[in-house]
Amino acid sequence: MSVSVLSFTRPLDGVSGLLQVASLLGFALLLLKAAQLYLHRQWLFKAVQHFPSPPSHWLFGHIQEFQDGQELQKLQKRAEKYPCASPRWLWGNKVILEVYDPDYMKVILGSLPTQPHCGPGYGLLLLNGQKWFQHRRMLTPAFHYDILKPYVWLMADSVHVMLDKWEDLIRQNSYLEIFEHVSLMTLDTIMKCAFSYKGSHQAERISQSYIQAIQDLSNLFFSRVRNAFHQNDIIYKLTPEGRWNHRACQLAHQHTDRVIKLRKAQLQEEGALEKVRSKRHLDFLDILLFARTEDGSSLSDKDLRAEVDTSMFEGHDTTASGISWVLYTLATHPEHQQMCRQEIQILLGDGASITWDHLDQMPYTTMCIKEALRLYPPVPGINRDLNKPITFPDGRSLPKGFQVSLSIYALHHNPNVWPKPEEFDPSWFAPGSARHSHAFLPFSGGARNCIGKQFAMNEMKVEVALTLLRFELVPDPSRVPVPWLRIVLKSKNGIHLHLRKLL
Ligand code: HEM
Repeated sequence: MSVSVLSFTRPLDGVSGLLQVASLLGFALLLLKAAQLYLHRQWLFKAVQHFPSPPSHWLFGHIQEFQDGQELQKLQKRAEKYPCASPRWLWGNKVILEVYDPDYMKVILGSLPTQPHCGPGYGLLLLNGQKWFQHRRMLTPAFHYDILKPYVWLMADSVHVMLDKWEDLIRQNSYLEIFEHVSLMTLDTIMKCAFSYKGSHQAERISQSYIQAIQDLSNLFFSRVRNAFHQNDIIYKLTPEGRWNHRACQLAHQHTDRVIKLRKAQLQEEGALEKVRSKRHLDFLDILLFARTEDGSSLSDKDLRAEVDTSMFEGHDTTASGISWVLYTLATHPEHQQMCRQEIQILLGDGASITWDHLDQMPYTTMCIKEALRLYPPVPGINRDLNKPITFPDGRSLPKGFQVSLSIYALHHNPNVWPKPEEFDPSWFAPGSARHSHAFLPFSGGARNCIGKQFAMNEMKVEVALTLLRFELVPDPSRVPVPWLRIVLKSKNGIHLHLRKLL
């Protein structure tokens, strides 16, 4: 009996011994991880110790600020209360420094080694290091003014299509939600200008689903950032939101692939660069397809698609936001609207032809557009990872590896920079008026500023000029837009205006 017991207990001892060792090891690993997290948290605390912020929850940090839809107002309050910058704890061990001071912006944007915080990405907007430099150099010729000049006519054409549609629509109901129309129009414009696309997007259903996909991607990105359980790619892919994100990406890519495929086929028929150049003007897509790096290689299909996606996204959603908010601010400030209209009537008469040369001759309208971009910056914030330690002019510093968020919205609403920041005051932008070089940054600044700035300003001027010649804009008091922090600034309830056709 004792023998049999012995022969049974020995293997059991072995298993339980193994289990004991395994659980000890697991416990030690857990302790190690906890120590690591603790030390990292201490490192973060030390890094931001000189930057005060509102009290935060030990686990959820300031996540509440994200969730009640008051994010923009909260950011503004921070700018009033905590000078220059303040840390925002996301959850557990994640903190970002919110920056809204011109001197701080200057230091960060002037410091080349910082990189956009988006993880490994493709397309100029998300690229880093040497590859970004190479792509930026390849794309710069596409935004040369010789290329941009003929676009004014194409922009005017798209705007007229939209305004004709508005004339029809207001016969039934003079109240319109404009953002959606403007988005279709700007997509139409970018497709025509950058890709010489011949169809009219404003009429096509496919582009509406593309716009929907872009909007979904933007919303999903924001809700993912706020959800601690969605940070892991594998887990995220399994969630309903992750699957939705995947479908929206596929839809956007299909649209892009279609554009590239059509052009590749066309170029095969047309032949070499010089032959194409002699026949027609080169557009953005031609430049991408003919672009070569120093070693003579062309862009890979993946890089090509990423650049096209970036331009389509950056080139239509941002300008749609800019234009819609400009029209809204003019609607709410009729005296300024009338001054712009007078300026444009004198310049353009009936507006039948608007050219590149006209765009420099509408100073008051330009001032109003800039003031609207201050109040409603289409890109409300951008993130950067610090590749090296940084010291600000007031002596406070941040270590390498830290993440900062440049809040363009809070900068533009910072009362220390713009007294009475909520007032619409175009005189801020009167010719000759002085301000800090980094107080107004709708297009960011430094080496990674917006490559499409001139394109966007032209499009906004053409759109505003032609609209004011045809319509009087009046706000809809029952549906006041609520600015909504997304990658691109939107309104939570759309932008509703009352349009009156001018005689
Ligand atoms: C009102 C309209 C626009 C606004 C407010 C705007 C704003 C910005 C901002 C703030 C950035 C910096 C982003 C960052 O550093 O993370 C940026 C970058 C960029 N924008 Fe725009 N943008 C506008 C229109 C356009 C258009 C029309 C195009 C192209 C046709 C364009 C193409 C780009 C690209 C490619 C970059 C990345 C540049 C780089 O990293 O070197 N943008 N834009």
